[in-house]
Amino acid sequence: MIAILLGPPGSGKGTQAKRLWKERHLPQLSTGDMLRSAIQSGTQLGVEAKSFMDRGLLVPDSIVVGLIEERSKEDRCKEGFILDGFPRTISQAQTLDQMLIDQNRKVDRAVLFEVSDEELVCRLSGRRTCTQCHTMFHMEHAPPHVSGVCDQCGGKLIQRNDDQPEVIQKRLLVYHRETKPLVDFYANQGKLKNIDASQRADAVSEALGRALQ
Ligand code: AP5
Repeated sequence: MIAILLGPPGSGKGTQAKRLWKERHLPQLSTGDMLRSAIQSGTQLGVEAKSFMDRGLLVPDSIVVGLIEERSKEDRCKEGFILDGFPRTISQAQTLDQMLIDQNRKVDRAVLFEVSDEELVCRLSGRRTCTQCHTMFHMEHAPPHVSGVCDQCGGKLIQRNDDQPEVIQKRLLVYHRETKPLVDFYANQGKLKNIDASQRADAVSEALGRALQ
């Protein structure tokens, strides 16, 4: 199964992709996580990506496409994988289709996470992420037991640079302009399913499970 989690920033794609890994052992390929890890390691790629990410802009295809191509060929992905945050433009979707044709594979399903912009702003501005194990928390909906400390590993919790209010607005704008057209792209291929991602996380997991059947 190769599935794409499609949806605006903060709609819960990362949360659900991590659950799918735990429950169904489907590897999560998240371009956002890969880029943040490159930034943390201080690589040249990370330095280039950071200047776009901190402004809420898309990182150039020349950087992200290579990351996905490399990971999709790993042994652990041979039974399938979940794409989280890729593709984000029609051009990336077309490149992905061709990449998978070359590997004798195809996208099976794209699932659209539907959440209002108002709720997204609340989720993103309250999000805190562990610097060590990347577990996510939310100051109101899923707070850690001890403020600023990860429940899982004791790591430090931080707010992402791109979760500042003005950057959130920019990311939402970029989503509506660049990524939303993918809804029609996958609907026209008969691969799109919509889910109500404004429900609590367990209900979203159930809806996602049905959408992937
Ligand atoms: P990326 O990391 O992909 O960010 P995003 O798509 O903007 O998505 P988020 O990670 O912000 O949100 P999410 O939908 O995963 O929600 P989450 O589960 O975290 O990309 C970051 C940047 O990298 C981009 O802006 C761009 O610059 C660059 N980039 C990445 N991919 C690229 C590409 N393909 N091309 C070019 N550039 C690229 O949840 C959010 C919060 O809500 C959390 O606090 C969580 O606890 C909470 N929450 C989750 N589910 C629920 C629920 N059901 N109810 C209540 N709260 C919930």
